[in-house]
Amino acid sequence: MTLTGRLAASAASTTRFTTNVSRAAARASVSAGVVGGGSGEGSAHHRSSAAGVGAGASVTRFTTSPTVAKQQRFMSGYAAGPGTTKIPSFADYTKDRSGDSSRAFTYFMLGASGAMVTAAAQSSVHGFLTNMAASADVLAMAKTEVDLASIPLGKTVTIKWRGKPVFVKHRTQEEIDDANSVNLKALPDPQEDSARVQQPEWMVVVGICTHLGCVPTTDSGDYGGWYCPCHGSHYDVSGRIRKGPAPLNMEVPEYVIEGDKLTIG
Ligand code: FES
Repeated sequence: MTLTGRLAASAASTTRFTTNVSRAAARASVSAGVVGGGSGEGSAHHRSSAAGVGAGASVTRFTTSPTVAKQQRFMSGYAAGPGTTKIPSFADYTKDRSGDSSRAFTYFMLGASGAMVTAAAQSSVHGFLTNMAASADVLAMAKTEVDLASIPLGKTVTIKWRGKPVFVKHRTQEEIDDANSVNLKALPDPQEDSARVQQPEWMVVVGICTHLGCVPTTDSGDYGGWYCPCHGSHYDVSGRIRKGPAPLNMEVPEYVIEGDKLTIG
């Protein structure tokens, strides 16, 4: 039996065996080759030439897999060793942006939001005040004019102003003197008569009792002014409380006297 073996150089990974033995012998040699190749390199592949076997001379080729070192070179393009691993940079993700343009953008958004909220609030308040404002007819009724020339001396008229009664009394000189001679210390709500009138002959007061809101009767009571029959309060000709449960003088409204025209409100 002749065995020709050619072992390729280390760069070649193919081991070729040529033999003239019979097919059985060749199989035996293949088995031996497989065992020999597998012991050092792992798996092995073989091919048999059909022509060679038929002619009595068979060629068996063993092709071995690359060595472990070569596999490593095939799997990676980098040489093994420290410092060869490339680590990606995360600098863009870890950058501190607190002091750059992001802060300006945050301030801009806050300012824009505040401006919009302010505009919305202003619009709402304006609409609310517009709806709540008094209408023209209500404003016209806010002031009441009275012709003083039509009120005789010593008489009192009652007019309606903003839904409330208002007494306008044309006082005599005797009544004026009587109002100014009162001892203020004896009054429940001390007040000078001169502080309650613009012109002494004209006394203007809201005709509502300061106790519980009844309307006093005119030119009556113990002091010649007004009397509240609800609980017995007496007011003098200046509208000041003199006797009874009422705690305060009757209210003097805002008014203006121009000639014979009295404008209340
Ligand atoms: S309401 Fe006038 S005295 Fe009571």
